[in-house]
Amino acid sequence: MRTLSSPPGPKGHLVGNNLREYARDPLGFLSGCAREYGDVVGLRFMGQTIYLLSDPSLIEYVLVENKRNFTKTRILRRNRRLLGEGLLTSEGEFWRRQRRLAQPAFHRKRVAVYGEVMAALAERSLEAWRDGQTIDIHEEMMHLTLEIVAKCLFDADVGARATDVGKAMKAVLEDFSSQRRLIRIPKRIPTPHNIRFEMAARRLDDIVGTIIENRCKSEEDRGDLLSMLMLAEDDSGERMTNKQLRDEVMTLFLAGHETTANALSWTFWLLSLNPNAEDELAEELVRVLGGRTPTISDLSDLPCVERVIKESMRLYPPAWVVGREAIAECEVSGYRMPVGTTALMSQWVMHRDPRYHDDPERFDPDRWTAEYKEGLPRFAYFPFGGGSRQCIGAGFAMVETCLVLATVAQRFRLEFTPGQRVEPHASITLRPRRGIRMTLAERSNGG
Ligand code: HEM
Repeated sequence: MRTLSSPPGPKGHLVGNNLREYARDPLGFLSGCAREYGDVVGLRFMGQTIYLLSDPSLIEYVLVENKRNFTKTRILRRNRRLLGEGLLTSEGEFWRRQRRLAQPAFHRKRVAVYGEVMAALAERSLEAWRDGQTIDIHEEMMHLTLEIVAKCLFDADVGARATDVGKAMKAVLEDFSSQRRLIRIPKRIPTPHNIRFEMAARRLDDIVGTIIENRCKSEEDRGDLLSMLMLAEDDSGERMTNKQLRDEVMTLFLAGHETTANALSWTFWLLSLNPNAEDELAEELVRVLGGRTPTISDLSDLPCVERVIKESMRLYPPAWVVGREAIAECEVSGYRMPVGTTALMSQWVMHRDPRYHDDPERFDPDRWTAEYKEGLPRFAYFPFGGGSRQCIGAGFAMVETCLVLATVAQRFRLEFTPGQRVEPHASITLRPRRGIRMTLAERSNGG
């Protein structure tokens, strides 16, 4: 057992069951707890003890220094119908092996190859956009990022089924949020909600199954992630079972597009509300690209693009909370954490903490100077998590969001369509609850 060097935070044990308040407004509830009670807040959710940790060094302790003492949480385990034993949910030696197998597909050199596909697909989706047209940017980005992940990792074209996947994702995420209700109805009982979820899961099974089947038929090694996973052999020469393969493909398929779509949707919305930042970005794009399609080697000359993405993920982190469960008793900042206690660490809370981010509610891409980055404790900003379970697609996602933003923003200005309320919906990810309608204004001569 280890005691942390930082002093214990103010005592923050709330009594009673906090699930009701949490379910009503998870973002507001967690921020309020951290603000009112300090860096360690004890909560009770249906008899379960939860610690909300809001000090970067405590988050580092759980995710990095003492990571062997923690597993993913039971809420994720409960959601195995869809993700099975994929990278996001598996544990131990099995997870380590799978992560090693998948890692080469996310190597920097490989991501550089994907860059071309990303920009080309973004260009292609713009062909249907017209000056003056109103679009739902979230729907558009879900469509585009799905096509990108399927093409890059599995060499599959899913354009025709993107609407299907979008609907299924919505049902799946609603199911996840519904698990915060006080009364939970087991999945086997055919309520309309459970039936909707099962149908959505089957639709996704069918799409992922088709991707795998088509490749099995061709038996071709295309050098992509799907081939890597299919052809990998363990020490005894065994290949992955169909079920293992299905779980990994499903996990990457889902984890690899919805988060990125959210990041981009929040970005376009924030830019529409901040014309100065928008102008600065447009000016950089004209100067560096002059209307041509961006490539990965342009990104180092587009610092404003990266700053905008980073700032957008600070204010609206697509993954807004991570959780871990203690498998052995330990101590956090002087508080005993018995076996089974969950540690919650929230990007939403940390990214808006005024101790680390000046004027935290303000969208200000220019804050991302070298000095600012150097001064930030590691876990005051962690959109991709941290430690060994850090997002495997972090590099992929940064290149993708930057290239898509550059491609779109040099062709169109996206104006917020008045008369709608934009609201974050905190499910597994943070997505705009009712989408975001935006009106397209085509730029003349790329400017
Ligand atoms: C802006 C986009 C993204 C964000 C904000 C994001 C965020 C995260 C976070 C916070 C985690 C860690 C969860 C935890 O510690 O419990 C994670 C894990 C993961 N992400 Fe991402 N992600 C993004 C994009 C992607 C992409 C593009 C892919 C794949 C193509 C991907 C695949 C995964 C996988 C497989 C894991 C589990 C890794 C493991 O445990 O070994 N993510 N992501």
